[in-house]
Amino acid sequence: MKSFFTAFVAIATIVALPLDARPVAETSALSVRAATGLDKLFKAKGRAFVGTASDQGRFSNAQNSAVTLREFGSVTPENSMKWDATEPNPGQFTLSGADALVNYATTNGILVRAHTLVWHSQLPTWVSSITDKTVLTSAIQNHIATVAGRYAGKVRSWDVVNEMFNEDGSVRSSVFSNLLGTSFVDLSFAAARKADPEALLYINDFNLDSANAKAKGLVNLVNTVNANGVVIDGIGTQTHLGAGGAGGVAAAIKLLASAKNVKEVAITELDIGQAGAADYTAVVNACLAETKCQSITLWGVRDPDSWRASETPLLFDANFADKAAYTAVAKVLA
Ligand code: XIL
Repeated sequence: MKSFFTAFVAIATIVALPLDARPVAETSALSVRAATGLDKLFKAKGRAFVGTASDQGRFSNAQNSAVTLREFGSVTPENSMKWDATEPNPGQFTLSGADALVNYATTNGILVRAHTLVWHSQLPTWVSSITDKTVLTSAIQNHIATVAGRYAGKVRSWDVVNEMFNEDGSVRSSVFSNLLGTSFVDLSFAAARKADPEALLYINDFNLDSANAKAKGLVNLVNTVNANGVVIDGIGTQTHLGAGGAGGVAAAIKLLASAKNVKEVAITELDIGQAGAADYTAVVNACLAETKCQSITLWGVRDPDSWRASETPLLFDANFADKAAYTAVAKVLA
């Protein structure tokens, strides 16, 4: 994995040199885009990548793929690696969608931010109806060994556990916590580490958009789990914001980055209602202000493909044209 990255960075640097050598400071955001793309701008600041959610139904569209490869350096499977997609029945693995996503990334020399192994949602009923601790433990271990094992060495990071907290910072009721308490976290991360020793292992959640009770609950858990070393490498904040909701993000990212033995934090599913330029500017600046904030992933390319389509929350419109929010992000990164 390391040598892959080194080689990739070296090749990317050589290929990009003539473009990167152009003076960008005085150009418009549009020509900055044309010369570089958001991912290269962010990498030039020493960070890991700017990515987008994708899957076969998206990147098989030529316009989507063109924007993805121009602007982004990573893809996250929007749905194809979730438990319902990958293991709909016990031991029956359906990985064609996940394979397609990983092949797309590999073929095009971009990273994979994989999502997600243990989550109460998009979970098949055969898992949520398990009533025995040992059976559930085996189900988790087998799921993670098979899915994370298949892509070992090909993904940069995994969301191992997703959305395990309530808004007050307590642990959400789920088949996982109800049967196993928080030990499901330890056993899930141990299984993921075993399956893919090179991947950075993340815990991910939503509404971590200020230094609120939920963010504090998550940090407390990470402090406990990481008390004796690095079990959880990174904390992901989904950052699905409403209009005007970016004010607390900088404080939230600082708080998350303070968790014990955490190497990275990431903005993992960014979209903002109405896609205000000021809101996007605030989020990107919040990430830049914390050196552990290594990646920003947009939750899709163009508005009509968003899970929040009616709120037009992304950087590109229905015609894949960049919006004011795009220009704002490019300006902050340029
Ligand atoms: C969403 C997808 O975007 C939708 O296509 C799907 O129908 C539901 O899930 N938190 C997460 C993501 O971690 O996996 C969710 O993605 C959005 C909220």
